Amino acid sequence: MCGIVGAVASRNVQNILLEGLHRLEYRGYDSAGMAVLSEEGRLNRVRALGKVGALEARLGDSPLKGRVGIAHTRWATHGAPTEANAHPHQSGDSLAVVHNGIIENYETLKRELQGQGYVFTSETDTEVVAHLLAREYTLSQDLLTAVQKSVALLDGAFALGVIHRAQPDVLIGARQGSPLVIGVGIDEHFLASDQLALLQVTDRFIYLKEGDLVRMTAEQVEIFEQGERLITSTNERPIQIFEHAQDAASKGDYRHFMLKEIHEQSRVLAATLEGRLNGDRVLVRSFGSEAETLFSQVKQVQIVACGTSYHAGMVARYWIERLAGIPAAVEVASEFRYRPVVVADGTLFVTLSQSGETADTLSALRYAQSLGGFLGSLAICNVPGSSLVRESDLSLMTMAGPEIGVASTKAFTTQLVGLMLLTLALRRMRGGDDAGEAEVVRDLRALPGLVTKALAMDSEIERLSEAFADKHNALFLGRGTQFPIALEGALKLKEISYIHAEAYPAGELKHGPLALVDADMPVVAVAPNDELIEKLKSNLQEVRARGGELFVFADENISLEESEGVRVLRMPHVSELLAPILYTLPLQLLSYHVAVLKGTDVDQPRNLAKSVTVE
Ligand code: AGP
Repeated sequence: MCGIVGAVASRNVQNILLEGLHRLEYRGYDSAGMAVLSEEGRLNRVRALGKVGALEARLGDSPLKGRVGIAHTRWATHGAPTEANAHPHQSGDSLAVVHNGIIENYETLKRELQGQGYVFTSETDTEVVAHLLAREYTLSQDLLTAVQKSVALLDGAFALGVIHRAQPDVLIGARQGSPLVIGVGIDEHFLASDQLALLQVTDRFIYLKEGDLVRMTAEQVEIFEQGERLITSTNERPIQIFEHAQDAASKGDYRHFMLKEIHEQSRVLAATLEGRLNGDRVLVRSFGSEAETLFSQVKQVQIVACGTSYHAGMVARYWIERLAGIPAAVEVASEFRYRPVVVADGTLFVTLSQSGETADTLSALRYAQSLGGFLGSLAICNVPGSSLVRESDLSLMTMAGPEIGVASTKAFTTQLVGLMLLTLALRRMRGGDDAGEAEVVRDLRALPGLVTKALAMDSEIERLSEAFADKHNALFLGRGTQFPIALEGALKLKEISYIHAEAYPAGELKHGPLALVDADMPVVAVAPNDELIEKLKSNLQEVRARGGELFVFADENISLEESEGVRVLRMPHVSELLAPILYTLPLQLLSYHVAVLKGTDVDQPRNLAKSVTVE
């Protein structure tokens, strides 16, 4: 997804912007560009199709020197990935703009501007903004006024960074529906769509709110609420210190971020539990000061999320109904946001998101709030200060740290831990007994140790991956809470190895997908020692009888023999409730090793973006 970096400083900004773009590469993009105002008052721009490395090479030949600049990584929405469509976009040689998001009324505005003589050189919606700004600047001769007037004419979700050669010490930003953060340095200020882009220059940030405009010089920041009211109190937009580890954006000794993040799971699961447990009990207040009051009124739970986060929600549905005795529903955000919803009395609205900026999830939350009948909203999220967290009544941070690999791994398992904490909190508020809660809490405390044991299967799984690298299809099976884990395993394999994979609840096999099973279709089954194990074993027989090659991840204590066409990989014994968390790990490792064998771009798979901030 697109990324913005901007800087206004008393030193040359090219390398600050370049490093910022490198740090945003994980979001997925197809082209990159930079515009800098030179000391001589010229606006210079360099753009390149492809990786930031290609832009860097061009900057090596023609460096951009100056103290004010903007830069961008583009993920095509309007117009193909080409250099002409890459940002920054200009109107003439005076003004440049970078843009994240989508301008929905761009066609109307484009016709109007063309009628007024503006000539377009790209297919993007962003170029409309550049010409609009130029038109408004001609009228007002002031950049801030031009941005205020232009933004008022735009429909859609966007974040902007703007510079003009007539005001060579000013950088302007606007936030409406797409994230934008200010980095505060010493006699320098920065702008970015993600604070990660600026961690090399500062750890102090001001998080802009929806509708904010910001006018920055090296010495000063002025924020205008809803584009108009100058904010005079620092309490309204405080400077916040970003506390995540500084090395999070580096791969360390790992070949890929994804592998590093898989191996971080023992630590981050422990971090997600830290401070949330008191002895054998969950601290309900971990969800916010109003959580006890709100949770005590919950009669039903509606979970909404996308992709991997949605799979976490599917697991939670089983947990909440089983342990808390409360009906729970799960839905993908892109469906929920567009359908008429009947809100049952006492329903808690829960969103799950790694980034907290996923457009569909955010819109679903806003839609739920507009309906009016929900008891309240809770976000389980990995990014403090994200839109989802700020706009929800309650929140619980997963402590995964920045996740760089596009394929979500540690964010998923920490979400599951957060969801189990929620399940136990709801259970308690419904009068659940202490002993039952204590048993699950003890299992949660033991989980990081089991994760370390399961990750020790890495080399065994690496060898296993050879059986998949030349296949075009794969089938994943699970039952109960393991069905969402099978779905997650299939999604991981699709995302990074480009192998078509499907997941089914094992009991559904005979209702259709069994027709696909033959010697070319590897079948992966997750088989913890739960109450459905005997039924799963029968389903596996159905596969074997059709010549399907089976790979079964099974509890070390269940009796399941290896035989021709049946590989059994032994998993450490884990409680039935927490098994979905542990059984996710070998499936992550399997997809990772298959992708490495196939030579795909593991951390930035084709066509995908880390944070999907457009619809
Ligand atoms: C996961 O591997 C995917 N990249 C994707 O499905 C992701 O989980 C989804 O886009 C939701 O993102 P979020 O958790 O940041 O909201």
